[in-house]
Amino acid sequence: MLRVELGDWSAMAPSLELIRREVFVIEQRVPEEMEWDADDATGVHALALIDECPVGCGRLLPDAHIGRIAVRAPFRLRGVGRAVMLALLDAARRRSMPHVELHAQTHALRFYERLGFVAEGPVFDEAGLPHRRMSRVLAS
Ligand SMILES: CC(C)(COP(=O)(O)OP(=O)(O)OC[C@H]1O[C@@H](n2cnc3c(N)ncnc32)[C@H](O)[C@@H]1OP(=O)(O)O)[C@@H](O)C(=O)NCCC(=O)NCCS
Repeated sequence: MLRVELGDWSAMAPSLELIRREVFVIEQRVPEEMEWDADDATGVHALALIDECPVGCGRLLPDAHIGRIAVRAPFRLRGVGRAVMLALLDAARRRSMPHVELHAQTHALRFYERLGFVAEGPVFDEAGLPHRRMSRVLAS
């Protein structure tokens, strides 16, 4: 059974670190020193679990930036990423954020478009990977 928990970094750090190290540092070769930043302490984090096994995560920062969306490879294309995003969008609405934004890896543009995000501007490099800025207005 899939469920998503919201919480702060201190409450969920071991599971978030496990997922992000596996997906970003090992699979996508993001440098370790870029993966962990001070924003983790200020954001609200979503942790997806299937039968209590940590499988996906993401975060929402106080400036309405969503990021670090990751699903472990064996669990992809089962709705985990979408569930993480919906939990973060709910969190943004509860904080009265009028819109949210993110930097999408270009391979994931379609994933975010399915969630109502619209791409803006050119492709740019972040952590050695091509990205585009995307945003979504939140209905109140
Ligand atoms: C991108 C990622 C988070 C998607 O997670 P997921 O759990 O596989 O996605 P879901 O199963 O919830 O998919 C939701 C929808 O997006 C679509 N989708 C998911 N990944 C996609 C992809 N790479 N390309 C196109 N469509 C995709 C699904 O088909 C599904 O479509 P539907 O609404 O028509 O059914 C996951 O592939 C991942 O962690 N990738 C590596 C890390 C990464 O690149 N993160 C994004 C950083 S910006």
